Amino acid sequence: MKDLRNYPLLAHNTFGMDVRASRFVEYASEEELRSFLMQPREEVPLLAIGGGSNLLFLHDFQGIVLHSAIRGIRVITETDDEVEVHVGSGIVWDGFVAYTVEQGWYGAENLSLIPGEVGASAVQNIGAYGVEAKDLIVCVDTVGVTTGESRRFMNEECRYAYRQSVFKQELKGQYIVTGVTYRLSKKPVWHLDYGNIRAELEKSGGELTQKALREAVIRIRNEKLPDPARVGNAGSFFMNPVIPKAQYDALCALYPDMPHYSAGEGRVKVPAGWLIDRCGWKGKTRGRVGVHAKQALVLVNLGGATGEEVRRLAEDVARSVEEKFGIRISPEVNYIE
Ligand code: EPU
Repeated sequence: MKDLRNYPLLAHNTFGMDVRASRFVEYASEEELRSFLMQPREEVPLLAIGGGSNLLFLHDFQGIVLHSAIRGIRVITETDDEVEVHVGSGIVWDGFVAYTVEQGWYGAENLSLIPGEVGASAVQNIGAYGVEAKDLIVCVDTVGVTTGESRRFMNEECRYAYRQSVFKQELKGQYIVTGVTYRLSKKPVWHLDYGNIRAELEKSGGELTQKALREAVIRIRNEKLPDPARVGNAGSFFMNPVIPKAQYDALCALYPDMPHYSAGEGRVKVPAGWLIDRCGWKGKTRGRVGVHAKQALVLVNLGGATGEEVRRLAEDVARSVEEKFGIRISPEVNYIE
């Protein structure tokens, strides 16, 4: 187990915030995590992080950052049609997706290149191009922070919704994910109808293979989203808001080109990126922070920015969206005090 004091978090958050944690603990097994949780320790906040790709540290973290180094991919059951595979929470998500493609296990390829780790995939219900982690998750293994006991949550118990789960809501901070079991198909299952997936596939000759689909998704993401190794960012900064159909109809009369997706009975989801773009923010910079030039949904750290600078920009962006469209957008990124 790693247990370090005054630990730099620069390499642990894709926004590139140069902050420190009072203590940083990394565990390589469920037992190590349990023994840490059961030991007496200082009364400070605990923060479990994955790849730090959805966090904004506002300043140094006066508490203990916990990070999983639990690795290992294990087949649990396998039939001619499908496979259930248990994956350690510390495995890099896209490494796992690459592995599923090598094995010819279908289901995760639309989620290629999403930054972060397996544990966070189950907390955040990551999603892209018509697929969400919840579509693949069978169950999530956790350890209770106060009890140290193992608890398995079946998919329904995780209360999944768009970028939401019980681990971010009712049970926030109470359970730490140690492993996730995914169900993948051994027969092709394609999700090609979202955005420009089909058009991108055509560019590589149009032959539909799992590898071609993964590569198309990677090209689309690389084209629109900044590489966190070069420009600090946390992907989509805001969630796409869901509004009542009546409000959508009124807006649509003013902005007939407003893209939208159905979000269930009487509700419509509108892309936050489009709203922000229409407020004129795309490509705007303010000191060391800015709005990405190719995707207005992404806020960027141009180098050496503080979390507070990003937060102020985010607040101004949200305010102008509310003034122009009457829609309140909320951050998808978690602010860490
Ligand atoms: N749009 C603009 N201007 C912009 C950005 C978007 O006009 O600056 C328009 C696009 O033309 C398109 C619509 O808005 O018509 C939607 O944009 P896009 O397809 O880029 O997807 P998104 O809704 O902005 C969501 C997820 C992404 C995910 C993509 C693909 C959220 C908050 N974001 O983006 O997730 O990769 O769909 O499925 O749901 C992430 O969570 O970090 C993330 C990148």
